[in-house]
Amino acid sequence: MFNKKYSRRRFIKQSSMTGIGSVLAANMSSASLANTTFHSEVPAILGGSPVRSKEWPVWPQWDPEKDEKRVLEVLRGGVWSRDKVVSEFEEKWAKTIGTKRCLAVVNGTNALISSLVQFDIGAGDEVIVPPYTWISTIQAVLIAGAMPVFVDTDPETYQIDAEKIEEKITPRTRAILPVHILGLPADMERIMKIAKKHNLLVIEDACQAWLAEINHKIVGTFGNAGCYSFQTTKHLPLGEGGAIVSDDEAFMDRCYSYHNVGFPYGGVIGDVGAGSVMLGTKLRITEYQAAVGLSLLENLDEQTTIRNERAAYLKSQIKDIPGIVPYKLYDNVTRCAFHMFAFRYKQDEFKGLPRENFLKAFREEGIPCMSGYAPFLNTQPYLEHAFQTKNFKATYSKEMLDFKKYSERNQCPENDLLCNEAVWLFQSMLLADQKDMDDIATAIVRIKNNADKINKTLRDT
Ligand SMILES: Cc1ncc(COP(=O)(O)O)c(C=O)c1O
Repeated sequence: MFNKKYSRRRFIKQSSMTGIGSVLAANMSSASLANTTFHSEVPAILGGSPVRSKEWPVWPQWDPEKDEKRVLEVLRGGVWSRDKVVSEFEEKWAKTIGTKRCLAVVNGTNALISSLVQFDIGAGDEVIVPPYTWISTIQAVLIAGAMPVFVDTDPETYQIDAEKIEEKITPRTRAILPVHILGLPADMERIMKIAKKHNLLVIEDACQAWLAEINHKIVGTFGNAGCYSFQTTKHLPLGEGGAIVSDDEAFMDRCYSYHNVGFPYGGVIGDVGAGSVMLGTKLRITEYQAAVGLSLLENLDEQTTIRNERAAYLKSQIKDIPGIVPYKLYDNVTRCAFHMFAFRYKQDEFKGLPRENFLKAFREEGIPCMSGYAPFLNTQPYLEHAFQTKNFKATYSKEMLDFKKYSERNQCPENDLLCNEAVWLFQSMLLADQKDMDDIATAIVRIKNNADKINKTLRDT
């Protein structure tokens, strides 16, 4: 019986993982679940013992022995503002991903804003964006003063649907801003072809995609510029931080100058000591952030390999469960970052158990998870707010700022559906052992086999 007071934490403390049940659903491929260990059939949310009581790997990961030396040196050295360590971090990141230049900035949001502004994208311009992303992608376009134009999501890959980009291009379109969302590469080869055909800039939002690859080329290096985030949840965490990468030397010089209150740098010519020569702001990271980055960068490649192996295994274990549809990759993808492991949950295959209750039951089994992005990023109030600012009113016609019409023009029905079906598992879970992935599959099967009972109990309580 479902007893709310009997919390998961108490279960984890009190129950050992016993009771091997035979819970294979009749219509399920046993091959896909061959390595799965089954536990008590009663789901944890109905009072059974959870599939998993072991903790998952924590994030961020920090090894005092290995990682603290460099940071302490910086802290004790007394040079804390941007200097040699930041430059070293930039050189290493550029070399790691294969670009000529890298500039570290305070976060991914400002990496995007700086890139847009330094390509002179702003008032009156349109930028093609996906709706399945973190809000910063769109806010960056608005802050630059440009108009986001949404292109629907390919629900199988979670990425911008390249097939639908051309129909959204107008004479005002200046750039495409694809996002490699969840650490899975967007369809860059097609996007680059479209950009070339229409003479558009491409700024890649790779803020969730460190070391992901298409045909062994790292994402963030396909377009005119690539932007990364190094915020704490990210795979190269600096607390807060970001980077712009590009092979375009003049652009990178402008970005440097912009991030340093407009002081001359490289091709941005001026007399040293004569003051600022261009419009700029201040986006510099500290030496100790860079020291953290240099230490943790040493782990990134190996961790990325582990995430790829675990994700492939987990996918193989759950892909044949009716109602569970894992992410799909484009054919040319050679590596992912897996910021999330995502699948679509089809409620009809789970006896009508709503996703929200599936997630509750999943968590009770000891599997942390979430539903991901909310629908309607393409029609949320922040857009209307931007349209009411003086700058937007001075730039765009009334017709363009009519929010009802904008919302109609920017409908993304596939994305709305995806947002209501997605289930995300966190990246650090993919750093656990392969056998830990079996717990995830087992929990899904158990919930599926008890979907009726769970549905009824949660409905009645
Ligand atoms: C897709 C995407 N773009 C941009 C950003 C912004 O990065 P930051 O949080 O470092 O500003 C994030 C951060 O979560 C992101 O996931």
